[in-house]
Amino acid sequence: MSFFCHETSFIDENVKIGRNSKIWHFCHISKGASIEENVNIGQNVYIGENVKIGKNCKIQNNVSIFSNVTLEEDVFCGPSVVFTNVKNPRSFINRKDKFINTLIKKGATLGANSTIICGITINDYSLIGAGSVVTKDVRSFSCVVGVPAKLKGWVNLNGEKLPFPLKGKMDFFCKNTNLNYHLFKDKVTTSKITNVGEN
Ligand SMILES: CC(C)(COP(=O)(O)OP(=O)(O)OC[C@H]1O[C@@H](n2cnc3c(N)ncnc32)[C@H](O)[C@@H]1OP(=O)(O)O)[C@@H](O)C(=O)NCCC(=O)NCCS
Repeated sequence: MSFFCHETSFIDENVKIGRNSKIWHFCHISKGASIEENVNIGQNVYIGENVKIGKNCKIQNNVSIFSNVTLEEDVFCGPSVVFTNVKNPRSFINRKDKFINTLIKKGATLGANSTIICGITINDYSLIGAGSVVTKDVRSFSCVVGVPAKLKGWVNLNGEKLPFPLKGKMDFFCKNTNLNYHLFKDKVTTSKITNVGEN
């Protein structure tokens, strides 16, 4: 076995787990889930049926990743992040065939105890502040905080502040990441990373 799974955790049948991934205490990985290499899954994590988790993701304690939530590579989920997959749940109505997709793109960070309402895309390298409730798509390299989450500023590839106003036109060379960042209107891009893209 090229991955680690603590003896208190359960892995259903037909699950793919990549090399060097680690699954710590009291987790449940449901059938059809696919977890790429170098993924760290903390204590008391639930991974739903057919969920896809990209390589190098870190999922901290007490996170449930339900069906129809997808994490691309390098995503950080802080402790007790909450995902949802039904917008208007009722105990007495089964909406299993109406789960809504949520996509967390490469390099994004979800702060501790943030809640992600289903049906949105959290774009590449964005940073969600602790305790935020995210109700709308989040732009690449943006930092959003609050309930509901609003744009607070911009961050670089490493999650450090960029000296940009919320909107405008500005270019900045960042020594820490060795990249040029461009603010244009209400979007930040960087020319060297070609796979950053918003839907
Ligand atoms: C969002 C975050 C990155 C901002 O960090 P920062 O840029 O250093 O922000 P500052 O501490 O300078 O705060 C700036 C302002 O934003 C507010 N703020 C910061 N984080 C906030 C949050 N999560 N929710 C609401 N407001 C927040 C501050 O109160 C402050 O407000 P003020 O200007 O009215 O005084 C950080 O606060 C955060 O939430 N990080 C996530 C930590 C986490 O969850 N880690 C998980 C692994 S342990």
